[in-house]
Amino acid sequence: MADGSSETKSSNQMWGGRFASGPDAIMEEINASIGFDKKLYAQDIRGSIAHATMLAHQGIISADDKDKIVHGLNTILSEIESGAFEFSRRLEDIHMNVEARLATLIGPAAGRLHTARSRNDQVALDFRLWVKEELQKTEEALTALIDAFLDRAEEHADTVMPGFTHLQTAQPVTFGHHCMAYVEMFGRDRARVRHAIEHMDESPIGAAALAGTGFPIDRHMTAKALGFREPTRNSIDTVSDRDFALEFLSIAAIAATHLSRLAEEIVIWSTPQFGFIRLSDAFSTGSSIMPQKKNPDAAELVRAKTGRINGSLVALLTVMKGLPLAYSKDMQEDKEQVFDAAENLELAIAAMTGMVRDMTVRADRMKAAAGSGYSTATDLADWLVREAGLPFRDAHHVTGRAVALAEQKGCDLAGLSLDELKAINPDITEKVFDVLTVEASVASRTSFGGTAPAEVRKQIAWWRARN
Ligand code: ARG
Repeated sequence: MADGSSETKSSNQMWGGRFASGPDAIMEEINASIGFDKKLYAQDIRGSIAHATMLAHQGIISADDKDKIVHGLNTILSEIESGAFEFSRRLEDIHMNVEARLATLIGPAAGRLHTARSRNDQVALDFRLWVKEELQKTEEALTALIDAFLDRAEEHADTVMPGFTHLQTAQPVTFGHHCMAYVEMFGRDRARVRHAIEHMDESPIGAAALAGTGFPIDRHMTAKALGFREPTRNSIDTVSDRDFALEFLSIAAIAATHLSRLAEEIVIWSTPQFGFIRLSDAFSTGSSIMPQKKNPDAAELVRAKTGRINGSLVALLTVMKGLPLAYSKDMQEDKEQVFDAAENLELAIAAMTGMVRDMTVRADRMKAAAGSGYSTATDLADWLVREAGLPFRDAHHVTGRAVALAEQKGCDLAGLSLDELKAINPDITEKVFDVLTVEASVASRTSFGGTAPAEVRKQIAWWRARN
């Protein structure tokens, strides 16, 4: 730091009178949050500038003191950004570090900044601003991921692959349709993000310690200056509330869970046994001993990061669950969870966006797999209902016998002869072969939201107009 004097000061000296000695070393260690809350420096300074400006506007401090404060805060901002600022653990947190430095820079006027304010509303403000900005970044990152999926879906609207249930071949679908399933998931994640931003768009500053203040402050003015829709409506709730952080973590956990399912599919699809995709060199690694290997490390790490993100949600829920109103120091434990989850979610979304854009889709392998496993058995049963008038349960039974015969002969359903099929059910005609191919199967699923390429293209267009 440019000046060492506040370096030797401890936070106990900042609140003066009552405290004769500094904290025990262990107390300092357990109490300090500067190691992580320095991340909030920009929000802290913005909040203080808005507060000081409002105090002067309301005649609570002089314009001259306000100018000194604002100038000093801007100096501190550039000191921090240039790396010249020395953070002190003795000063506990970002709020005290900034305030102590301000006192060194501008003298007694610095002491007026904390009028009508407490660190309780200050930290609620700083953290809320940070989370709101992070959600805005998440919204953009999800939009880029959705965009990557829309491009792949468009490219592969006709590419047939097996659809699975229980990871057993179920019915043919298209890869485009499968991609669009992820568009729906990440689209809901993004809707949750937007909703949360709206939810938390209320300014905490001015709630003071917990009861509000007798100074004639203007909370609407600070709310507006800081880009919030309006001020919060209850000072006790304002300094107690960490819903905004919990909402962020819940959204992050759900999105991470979606990313993890995708990661798992990428891991499976890229095995030589499936061979549905080839990962680009940019998103895989080799083995130090087995030259043939190409490992989906990025996907595996995305899958693993879900563990820590979900863990962060559980950690903060557990911190908050027994706290009486209003502020308790327990709440200081909110930040690391959110910072860690945010950093890892950002990374996971970016890695997935890259993987989705870069992977090579092996349409030939997908199609071959789609045709195996009697994936058109449902089409045969549906045909028997439609064309031969069988009740579905009977059609199911007839189809089961056809599958058993094909299995015995080692061919797929389309490989059975008309005579063989007629022997199972005499109503079967050769028109049945029109529905036994995988292409005919997917083309027939034209119900709204179904896998028919024409329907998938409609859904792509719907999302394009909204992305
Ligand atoms: N470092 C604290 C936190 O992160 C700031 C608020 C401290 N308030 C208090 N009354 N001790 O929560």
